[in-house]
Formats: sequence, structure tokens, C-alpha cells
Amino acid sequence: MKRYLTVDDIGDLEVALKEAAEVKANPYKWDTLGKNKTIVLIFFNSSLRTRLSTQKAAMNLGMNVIVLDVNKDGWKLESEFGVIMDGDKPEHLREAVPVIGRYCDIIGVRSFATFEDKAADYEERILNQFIEFAGVPIISMESATRHPLQAFADLFTIEEHKTKARPKVVLTWAPHPRALPQAVPNSFAEWMKKADVEFVITHPKGYELAPEFSEGATIEYDQKKAFEGADFIYAKNWSSFTEYGQILSKDMSWTVNEEKMALTNNAKFMHCLPVRRNMIVTDGVIDSPNSIVIDEAENRVISAQVVIKRMLESL
Ligand code: CP
Repeated sequence: MKRYLTVDDIGDLEVALKEAAEVKANPYKWDTLGKNKTIVLIFFNSSLRTRLSTQKAAMNLGMNVIVLDVNKDGWKLESEFGVIMDGDKPEHLREAVPVIGRYCDIIGVRSFATFEDKAADYEERILNQFIEFAGVPIISMESATRHPLQAFADLFTIEEHKTKARPKVVLTWAPHPRALPQAVPNSFAEWMKKADVEFVITHPKGYELAPEFSEGATIEYDQKKAFEGADFIYAKNWSSFTEYGQILSKDMSWTVNEEKMALTNNAKFMHCLPVRRNMIVTDGVIDSPNSIVIDEAENRVISAQVVIKRMLESL
């Protein structure tokens, strides 16, 4: 595996889920695979789970790990080409990326949408410069448009908790005080459409995802109707794609609460975290026995370990 950016990079989902189960059952089985190999994890944005779980996954495989928080520890990096660099960014990605590539065997990159330029975000301008110039395999640790390590962990968590062959999985928009990217719901949709699940997306009008992610999913604007008979409720806020980056609603009637969960088939509650309590979900739901958000976060180690393992095996 030379890159891990979308669901297509993981190949057959059944094979990947089987491999994830093997890794979870015996995480140290491949603890010499990464001997004398180095992974650099570069963060343009904050993280708790991705930083720790990806580092842990690499350490389980015996790798050396370097973590760089670009905004705190590095030079500010320019990503535009052809600009006169007389501003606050003293180094261009064009040099920084190949330099980093000379110091390691794999690079993980976290670079969120900026909301300044929809085209630049959806063209993945920063991630693509890593792919083009690094000279080593690249893992997306959440890009402008996708969060594939999260989606893989989400699917594996559903696999562990499902009680029927083809569960109903509902992705629901929920309110949030700040404008958030579409990366998590995009990737979740991308993975659920390939998995053996009945997949429904529910959100207020104006929050339609980009067609490449929503096509093929059932869209239901009535949240309560969407929840009926659901086996998994996956809550997430995202800002508008059409009115790019805008908050169109903070309607608290979309918060996931006990009354709505009662409409489901005793559904498990999921969220990628971090979560705003009593905006996205009530305390009663996230603290209930049906909440599997911590299992989901634990499985971030597993998804990262499968991906890094595959990369090491193909170096
Ligand atoms: N879910 C997730 O990616 O968490 P962090 O932003 O803390 O890494």
C-alpha cells in the first residue's frame, strides 16, 4: 500500500475487517516489522485521538515515531504556487515535504479544510503536495475532504457490535457552535455505501453532502423517521457544502436525545469525538450503556495499525 486516502485504498472491506480482528487479537505479532523504520506524523491541526492512536499503532509495529505540530514547532508553510513569499510563511511545502520524506519511511498528514477556498479544499491542495513530493507512502490522518482512519475504525466498531447481518446505520447531523468540515461524514458515507449495511443520512435542508459522497445513500430530512428501527446512530455536525463552510442552523431540536433513541431498534450511539455534550447528544444518551464512543476511539489504534502494517509490508 503506497497511500491511504480513501475507501478505495483499503481494497476488499471483508479482508480488511478480518485483518483488523487479527491485529486486535494479537497487536504485538508484527512488533519487528517496523524495526529501523521511521514514521513522521505531521499535524497542521489539533488532535487527541489521531495523534495518540497512530503513534501507538506505529509503536506496536516496532517503528520509530516523530510527531511534528507544524503550527507550534515548525516553520509556517506556504502551499500556493507562484506567490511572492513576503508574508508570514517562510517555507514552501515544495521544499519541506521532500525534506521530511528524506527523514522517514512513511508520512501521516492531518490537514483540515480551511473554508477559504472550496475548490482548494476539495482538490486536496495540501495532501496532494505530500503525495507528489514526499517520495514515501502517505497516510491521511484527516484531510480537507476525508477521514479514512476514522471511517475504518467506525466500520470495524459496527462489525464488533452488530446483532444482525445487515444493520440499519443512520448518520445524523446535529447542532454545533462552530463551522466544522465535512471530512468525517464524507468518509463515513463513503465506507457505509461499500459495507453491507442499510445506510440512511438525515440532516436539515441545506446540509447535503457533496454528491460524490451522498449518491447511493437514502436521504431523509425527517430525523425521527430516519431513526425508526435503526441499529446504529452516528451523530456528527458538519457545515454546509453548498453554502460552503456556513452554519445554516443551530437547531437544538436535532440534538440526539433519549426520546429519539427510543424510536430505534435499541441502537448503539456513535460519534468520532471530540463531542459537544448537550448540543450533539444529551448526557443521558452518551452516558448510556448503548454508547460505544470509547470502543470506537479504541479502534482507531486498530485501523491505523492495519494501514501502517500494510505499508511496511510493501516497502
Ligand atoms: N476523531 C478524531 O480524529 O479525533 P482527534 O481530532 O482528537 O484526532
